[in-house]
Amino acid sequence: TTLNADSKERTYIMLKPDAVNRRLIGEILSRFEKRGYNVVGLKVLTPSRELAEAHYAEHKERPFFKGLVDFLTSGPVVAIVIEGDNAVATARTMIGVTKPQASAPGTIRGDLSIDVGRNIIHGSDSVESARREIGLWFRPVEIVDFKPVDHAWV
Ligand code: TYD
Ligand code: MG
Repeated sequence: TTLNADSKERTYIMLKPDAVNRRLIGEILSRFEKRGYNVVGLKVLTPSRELAEAHYAEHKERPFFKGLVDFLTSGPVVAIVIEGDNAVATARTMIGVTKPQASAPGTIRGDLSIDVGRNIIHGSDSVESARREIGLWFRPVEIVDFKPVDHAWV
């Protein structure tokens, strides 16, 4: 067996305005913490249209793009950087799939949402996307260099 808690892979997680309005911040953040991931960046902001469009640039030709940007800019989001072993892929597994109704119980979307347009959370889909998205949402000084003291236990 291996103990990879020193791995510093980072992913970008965002709680969308529906999660904030439904007061699910603590519920969702606690799942990542309890799993063993470290929160190394965290802030609440209402994104500008420019930022939301840049974040979802890969979808700009899709029919849902305008509605998605309208939604994301409609109120505060929580921007989060999570760090730990295999953070990108594990966070996606914890989140579930894009459609909440296809997401298994036990996943964040599968437990807490039903509508694809209100699926409460974003997670980077690759290490490369994570790098891009963290750079978009955070300045380097807003992310801490954090060495957990409990690394032997997770
Ligand atoms: P996508 O990147 O495909 O999903 P994920 O968030 O799982 O990475 O799409 C981005 C967001 O766009 C998605 O979370 C919800 C919204 N969306 C729709 O509203 N309708 C759709 O048909 C799709 C595919 C996505
Ligand atoms: Mg995506």
